[in-house]
Amino acid sequence: MSRSLSPLQTERLILRPFERSDAEALFEYQSREDIARYHFWEPRSLEDIHKKLDDWIPMTSLEGEGTHASAICLAEDGRLIGDLSLCVTDAEAGQAEIGFSLNPEFQGCGYAFEAASAYLQFGFEQRKLHRIFGRCDARNTGSWKLMERLGMRREAHFREHALFKGGWDEEFYYAILAREWQSFPDRALQMEAKPVLAGGE
Ligand SMILES: CC(C)(COP(=O)(O)OP(=O)(O)OC[C@H]1O[C@@H](n2cnc3c(N)ncnc32)[C@H](O)[C@@H]1OP(=O)(O)O)[C@@H](O)C(=O)NCCC(=O)NCCS
Repeated sequence: MSRSLSPLQTERLILRPFERSDAEALFEYQSREDIARYHFWEPRSLEDIHKKLDDWIPMTSLEGEGTHASAICLAEDGRLIGDLSLCVTDAEAGQAEIGFSLNPEFQGCGYAFEAASAYLQFGFEQRKLHRIFGRCDARNTGSWKLMERLGMRREAHFREHALFKGGWDEEFYYAILAREWQSFPDRALQMEAKPVLAGGE
């Protein structure tokens, strides 16, 4: 039987697999121009989101390459406030990319930090990854500041290396190694995350 990711619990959040009933809450922020601005996609319709859910709902495998995708929900009332993904790009070399978005109504409260910390912990301690990286547009201050708060290092700044949404793209790469995560000074903060694995260890 293949193992799958079940909910991760942090102090204020539950990170759980997507469900069909998440469409409206995802539409609330993924339909916004400011959320889509630095993603490769354009603001999504409800129909687009239903189609994407066909892909996201099964993204729970703990084996090989592929993506874990989670809804970020408030522990107190279950409200979906964002989404998070960890895409294992090279299972043998333990490489994975992290991605995140929050409904603007819930930004500025440390929720993305709390959720991403739990995913880094899960990636390094459960999946035994070696390096987790993130990419963002250099103008996406919210994203690169979050990666710096997570203890990720800026590894690259690609200048005008591609065309993106009608202009030159300026891209930052950030990354953190497993051993850097182990010694990250704020790691104590992140120990609130309690991963629960389905399918047995
Ligand atoms: C990237 C994104 C998820 C970051 O969200 P965020 O809410 O700014 O990130 P955090 O959870 O780390 O919150 C940090 C802010 O909360 C504040 N905060 C309040 N309480 C906090 C707490 N308990 N812990 C940590 N930070 C806290 C921090 O001071 C910080 O505020 P500041 O940015 O004014 O300094 C958000 O900007 C987003 O969804 N952007 C649009 C989608 C997107 O571009 N995604 C990335 C594509 S590459």
